Amino acid sequence: MKDQYILGIETSCDETAASIVKNGQEIISNVVASQIESHKRFGGVVPEIASRHHVEQITIVIEEALKQAGMTPQDLDAVAVTEGPGLVGALLIGINAAKAFAFANGLPLVGVHHIAGHIYANALVQKMEFPLLALVVSGGHTELVLMKDDGLFELIGETRDDAAGEAYDKVARVLNLPYPGGPHIDKLANESDEALQFPRAWLEEGSYDFSFSGLKSAVINYQHNAEQRGEKVNPNHLAAGFQQSVVEVLTTKTIRAAREFKVKQVIAAGGVAANKGLRTSLEEAFTKENISFYVPPIKLCTDNAAMIAAAGNSKFSAGHRGNMSMNGRPGLEL
Ligand code: KG4
Ligand code: ZN
Repeated sequence: MKDQYILGIETSCDETAASIVKNGQEIISNVVASQIESHKRFGGVVPEIASRHHVEQITIVIEEALKQAGMTPQDLDAVAVTEGPGLVGALLIGINAAKAFAFANGLPLVGVHHIAGHIYANALVQKMEFPLLALVVSGGHTELVLMKDDGLFELIGETRDDAAGEAYDKVARVLNLPYPGGPHIDKLANESDEALQFPRAWLEEGSYDFSFSGLKSAVINYQHNAEQRGEKVNPNHLAAGFQQSVVEVLTTKTIRAAREFKVKQVIAAGGVAANKGLRTSLEEAFTKENISFYVPPIKLCTDNAAMIAAAGNSKFSAGHRGNMSMNGRPGLEL
């Protein structure tokens, strides 16, 4: 079969990214322009600033992806772009760039769901086998997705309030750590020899849903109450206690779902999958369960366009095509 080259474009949040992927598996080029520095002083992503950066960067990033690959638009088979969910103004920059590029070069267009992208990041490092269970944990999502086959997504659990990454970022803020806080909390927790005890939200029996706002409030209140009493909390102990609670709930529910649905493979995806404590806990648990478990390297866990090209390759091969009426869909369902 002829090789298939897809240009992926991602602008749903605060990374402007373009990548070329061969046959949904092999990264030919992968360019990411991060805006973290611009959002840091606000402690989170400011949508208007994100859109402006995307406008400035998108053409440069696409040209760079082609240049690094040593390719021209004529070498491509399709353009895949994140259609949603995400910040609408940010999504629109990527979508309009993708439409213009596809139209100018006579290429087909494929719309990709951002979470499908995070899941297919795994296809870039190993062969995905079905039925597969994906734990997607990022700044905006905490989801358990069952895939009975390629391209078939079933949402079996999700957060009812904060996403895991959001809880990480908010806890980091009370500890005066820079944005995004996840990696800093992870580091503090790993260096700690002790952990404070915080609650775990299991929800109703059998539920695969998550809730992190109670935990987040418990940690923040603990810190504020200590400050009011003039006491100093050991940040390592606080970070370790918070992380233990998050990791235990994520690991326990993922194992229960993997058993119930008798999956062949479990994968983790999204920015929080970069977390060392979570990776270790899942690896140990699934080794015991004798179920294969994979997590992509860190740079493919956080937002990138190679994952969008990989997911786009699967949709394109299945015959899906977008058109010039494609729009940014902030609440797009999987
Ligand atoms: O997937 P991602 O890059 O963007 C979204 O689609 O949201 O995820 C970003 C999130 C942030 O909340 C960040 O704090 C978190 O992932 N994160 C981590 C770690 N690295 C990034 N959270 C915990 N531990 C980490 N090592
Ligand atoms: Zn993401």
